[in-house]
Amino acid sequence: MDLIKADAECVWHPFTQIKTAAAPIPIVRAFGSQLFHADGRTFIDAISSWWCNIHGHGHPHIVEAISKQAALLDHVLFGGVTHPEAVRLAKRLLKLLPYERVFYSDNGSTAIEVALKMALQYRLQSCMPQGKIMALKGAYHGDTFGAMAAGRSPFHEPFWPLLFDVTFIDPPYAGQEVDLTGVGIFIFEPLIQGAGGFHIYDLEALDHLLKRCKENNILTIADEVMTGFGRTGSLFVTDLLVNKPDFICLSKGLTGGTLPLAVTLTKERIFEGFISDLKSHAFLHGHTYTANAIACAAANASLDLLLDPHCQKQRILINRHFTKLADEMRPFVKRTAVLGTIFIMESYKEDAFFLENGIFVRLLGDILYFMPPYCLKEEELTYMCHIVRESLDYVHLV
Ligand SMILES: Cc1ncc(COP(=O)(O)O)c(C=O)c1O
Repeated sequence: MDLIKADAECVWHPFTQIKTAAAPIPIVRAFGSQLFHADGRTFIDAISSWWCNIHGHGHPHIVEAISKQAALLDHVLFGGVTHPEAVRLAKRLLKLLPYERVFYSDNGSTAIEVALKMALQYRLQSCMPQGKIMALKGAYHGDTFGAMAAGRSPFHEPFWPLLFDVTFIDPPYAGQEVDLTGVGIFIFEPLIQGAGGFHIYDLEALDHLLKRCKENNILTIADEVMTGFGRTGSLFVTDLLVNKPDFICLSKGLTGGTLPLAVTLTKERIFEGFISDLKSHAFLHGHTYTANAIACAAANASLDLLLDPHCQKQRILINRHFTKLADEMRPFVKRTAVLGTIFIMESYKEDAFFLENGIFVRLLGDILYFMPPYCLKEEELTYMCHIVRESLDYVHLV
């Protein structure tokens, strides 16, 4: 209680209307899938703390990597300096994904800014027409200005008049023929749009659009900040595309949800477009914590866990339970869907029932979703599914 009172005196929370919001929940410890309340109650972290904590909290393998790295080399500027963990992580990511260059930053929004700025500058320096930026209706790419412009989410309405022009198209569907005249860059969340409303769309239609973009010299940016690291089934959605995007942005699950880190991956061809006798042709962009050594060590440890066959078994287990649950719930709700380890159900008025029953969720509008850590035990999964069934009797659906 002291913590809540002290918090109310000095802290400003994200995405929160102070006037109507409930007091923040005081969490004092976390382990595995569990969050520990100051009063001793526990909650299953059913949304992986905004989708990043993929292996559960306090995983000993990541904790050990962080602690060793903190003692060895905590942080060093990345301009004109390098360090082993950043190089090791870059090499490992490039083995997993068909790219040749890794640019580090520190959150999903900055990974997007980097991709947009690189694409714009590349076009300029390659004497290509600048072209329009094209994005998907209902997209969410983050809260910085470039990311806001490419998303145009209702979250950002006060800033709409200040955002640069972007052409918005419907998320790809079979038979869609987009007019690509004058388009220079296309940015998208592949397969599923997250914060914009958990809308799943046609991957084949996306592939077709990407093919047409290639034919029209349009640079393409895949925002896999949410979908990356096994969340939707495959390690990356990009793995399923024949026509690979020119850039891919990753963050969230990269460090297993322990430390902020992001990467923008791109092709050698793009990198070469910045090599010049002119300093101004360099990519003059960077953040203080670019490639933070502790975060890179955490990401390397998280990758070890992700690539262990046990992780995939867990993801399959979660998918099996969620698929069965969705099939059961379908007749009773407006919409339910499952994609990999993501469970989606509409429409709820509030999340109190779940919190009262020890499951931490945050509704997105009136959408209930689960995106749990992959370490979830089978009995926890069974319990979550049980509470969803129960919720139909106790909460008012919209
Ligand atoms: C698809 C997508 N892109 C970008 C972001 C922004 O990431 P961050 O909150 O780390 O800036 C998010 C965050 O939810 C996201 O879901």
